Amino acid sequence: MSLTREQMLAEMGITPIWRLREPDEPLAASAAPTAGEPVETVREAAEAPVEPVSMRTSPMVSDSPAVAPRQTVVAPSNVAVDALEWPELAARVADCRACPLCEQRRQAVLGVGDLNPDWLFIGEGPGAEEDAKGEPFVGQAGKLLDNMLAALDLARGQKVYIANAVKCRPPGNRTPEAPEMAACRPYLERQIALLKPKVIVLMGKAAVHTMLHDDKALGTLRGRRFEYAGIPVVVTYHPAYLLRNLPDKAKAWEDLLFARRCLREALAAGDSLPL
Ligand code: URA
Repeated sequence: MSLTREQMLAEMGITPIWRLREPDEPLAASAAPTAGEPVETVREAAEAPVEPVSMRTSPMVSDSPAVAPRQTVVAPSNVAVDALEWPELAARVADCRACPLCEQRRQAVLGVGDLNPDWLFIGEGPGAEEDAKGEPFVGQAGKLLDNMLAALDLARGQKVYIANAVKCRPPGNRTPEAPEMAACRPYLERQIALLKPKVIVLMGKAAVHTMLHDDKALGTLRGRRFEYAGIPVVVTYHPAYLLRNLPDKAKAWEDLLFARRCLREALAAGDSLPL
């Protein structure tokens, strides 16, 4: 069944209360930046309203032959992660034994999506279903993520790549520990270097910890424009949290619209670069 955009927004719990802000309307308190936070650039979340755009390219999802590569191409172990191309990176992650999470995984879950994305969404780590299928966000939280993407006129695999802070399932779906995230970080960094996304959306505390080294409450980090390697980074709630805290879906929607404004700025800035 295909949902209308209204139905998708309703599914996210953001109708009828959500509407796009007028250009000079004040910023909602929930999205207002707080002074004194560690942020490189802070943008007002309430800028000119923007219309949804369709950003579609060739899909690269898991059932497509163009999926994040899974060939068995093994680079010698003395080749640094930051020098690996996709096939070697996928093989290195699949064989990784850098932390104890490898002991109980069925398989490592590298990520899925368009290898030339505008958007990179980063979650926490695979759950049971992701561990079984080898693809991130395929359970209930993934369904919500797909609906959030659809509300933006996006879809996984179409200018969107989805990854996690850790590639192996933490037992019992516990939060990954700091050393586990640190062990996995080079893989995520390499993915970002290869993907070159135009905007990164951190979903939940683990993604924030791994990318921003910040353990503050998420609410204090939302509505701000961070940067990683010159790429705008936006913080929002994890979809699994949103499933348990339905009223916060509206805030997550604000975050996504903010991320889209950051993306559009990045694209516009890229357009104006001299050739
Ligand atoms: N939660 C995550 O953070 N990642 C997944 O892939 C699935 C659920």
